[in-house]
Amino acid sequence: MTVRSPKLFVRSYGCQMNVYDAERMSDALAPEGYVATETPEDADVIVLNTCHIREKAAEKVYSELGRIRKMKQETGRAPIVAVAGCVAQAEGAEILKRAPVVDLVVGPQSYQNLPELIARAKAGARPVDTDFAVSEKFARLAEATPRAIRGRSVAAFLTVQEGCDKFCSFCVVPYTRGAEVSRPVGQIVAEAERLAAAGVREITLLGQNVDAFHGEGPDGRSWSLARLLYRLAEIDGIARLRYTTSHPLDFAEDLITAHRDLDKLMPYLHLPVQSGSDRVLKAMNRRHKAADYLRLIERIRAARPDMALSGDFIVGFPGETDAEFEATMRIVDEAAYASAFSFKYSPRPGTPAAEREGQVSEDVKTERLLRLQALIAARQAAFQRSLVGRPIEVLVERVGRHDGQMAGRSPYLTPVQIADCEVAVGDLIEVDVTGVGPNSLFAASRKPAEQPKSLRQFAEATA
Ligand code: 5AD
Ligand code: SF4
Repeated sequence: MTVRSPKLFVRSYGCQMNVYDAERMSDALAPEGYVATETPEDADVIVLNTCHIREKAAEKVYSELGRIRKMKQETGRAPIVAVAGCVAQAEGAEILKRAPVVDLVVGPQSYQNLPELIARAKAGARPVDTDFAVSEKFARLAEATPRAIRGRSVAAFLTVQEGCDKFCSFCVVPYTRGAEVSRPVGQIVAEAERLAAAGVREITLLGQNVDAFHGEGPDGRSWSLARLLYRLAEIDGIARLRYTTSHPLDFAEDLITAHRDLDKLMPYLHLPVQSGSDRVLKAMNRRHKAADYLRLIERIRAARPDMALSGDFIVGFPGETDAEFEATMRIVDEAAYASAFSFKYSPRPGTPAAEREGQVSEDVKTERLLRLQALIAARQAAFQRSLVGRPIEVLVERVGRHDGQMAGRSPYLTPVQIADCEVAVGDLIEVDVTGVGPNSLFAASRKPAEQPKSLRQFAEATA
């Protein structure tokens, strides 16, 4: 008789750290025999890995729970339903009251307890685990098996730092992810080496405040993010390194130098400024001025002239005037972003800005957002067009949408569709950009013999 493996379905919302956490949840449950499924209908455990950053993101979980309740009625199945992530941390037991379909609630620092929490839920308890113990989380979470890593992507995430001590007045992260904690360097290097050995070629280091990284090194000293990057660049199979998200205040000189020195460190940087107005920046508790930010990116570009920059912006922060919004439009122009994300301010429970006078009307927020997004889109298109006719390096990540096509990413994180190529997933190749689509670049691959020597050497070393 064969025993059916229990099935796990995880749906992640929000940031890349949730994507990483979802993988770690599945690693934590793999020793219990769980296998992943893509459909909630046949799952034995359904996890909603939630985001609390804006109201819209947080509300999604309740509509999804409504659909699961209906699905349970229609199919007569009774999977364990778990709410994880930042909404779980922020709302805790409230979720059980509001949604009777939920069997367990688990915050981001407690995923190592999932097997036990599921066992308790199966026994009829409705456990809530929202304790804060980040270092314990990483020490106790199961490692991914080589097979699990190979089943994912050649581009992997790796959390190096979690939480935030900055307390921007709009942001829930210090409350949902807790105080800033860095993982020890040895643990990170071991994880990166395991990823590389299983075929991963690109690693993005994750942290809510990643440039504030100060993990303990093997020498007992605190290591900066730059020092960690130099160490990770020594791992043979790793061809590309990235990190996100940085805060301008923590962007140290040695990190700028790392961008000058390390070929493996990609020339793409997500460095949010949020607003171009000094008064708004102060009210946001960002603790720097617009000019400080512009000076910083000038220094970064002096070290790495082809640096593509990305940012985040909030429009309609309490008290934001028309003139202050225009300052945001100006900084988008001056910083020459390759891409940027913009959001309407969303008052979050428990954050200082949510209580402030001068909340901006929805209509004004919408109008400002549309104008800002049009400007960003124009900038983004200009950046994409500037790549046409140029050779760029692409990491091949998957087969493309059309026959014979492969898909990968440029150093600047742009998706690239490569035509007529005989390349494999994991290859690092040079391509010629031939055109620009709405969300990606089109490119033609060069023959292996026409590839730059450095890439051929890398291919031989990792074959
Ligand atoms: N309202 C709108 N946007 C927000 N962000 C964070 N908190 C809020 C909020 N309350 C945006 C910031 C941040 C990104 C991840 O989300 O721009 O950089
Ligand atoms: Fe959302 Fe922030 Fe939590 Fe990520 S850390 S899921 S962006 S609230």
